[in-house]
Amino acid sequence: MYRKETPKQESIPLDLCAEPSSKSALDTWTNDGGSPVGGQIGGHGSIQRSGEISKNMADAMNRQIQQEQSNAHAYHALSLYFREQNLHGLERFMSRQAEEECSHADKFIGHLSDRKGRVELLAIHAPRTDFNSPLDAAKHTMQLEISTSQMIHRLYDHACNDRDYPLQVLLHWFITEQVEEERWSDELVSLIERFNDHPAQLLTLDHLWAGRAKT
Ligand SMILES: [Fe+2]
Repeated sequence: MYRKETPKQESIPLDLCAEPSSKSALDTWTNDGGSPVGGQIGGHGSIQRSGEISKNMADAMNRQIQQEQSNAHAYHALSLYFREQNLHGLERFMSRQAEEECSHADKFIGHLSDRKGRVELLAIHAPRTDFNSPLDAAKHTMQLEISTSQMIHRLYDHACNDRDYPLQVLLHWFITEQVEEERWSDELVSLIERFNDHPAQLLTLDHLWAGRAKT
């Protein structure tokens, strides 16, 4: 009597992290038949997350953290300068800026740490404290912000070259923020230039500028 043969059923491995045994299985598991998608499986079976940051990018981020913390230090010095000049609106504004720069550094620190990068708190140089006039101090803020924008743009280029997508997304916020930082510092220079020789108007500007301090 003819007996229909039951086809053998292929067993499917339940452990998806197990080493694939055939080339075809490997091809479906990887992009190019080589390394596993998203990272490497280590000899001890640990998996490297796709979002882990490269050493190169971690070094670049540590330099940016240093820049943001240096900016905070510089804004503290500017706040003290305006305090000495009895321009307390600008003193308050610069103090707020110092806090904001610390929060920028913290954003980078959080991102680097979340991606298993090593946070290195690099040395911060003493900030400039000797200003000839409020105008000189205002021009210094503008220079600080321009330098910071340039560093952020270089970091973005670096992130693009490294195909570091998470950092690119983070940097979009900073790129927009720098547009705002350059705008107010440019405005401050321009107004102080106009009022520098008119103490009463400079005091009015100082009073009005206090309201610009972010809360
Ligand atoms: Fe900043």
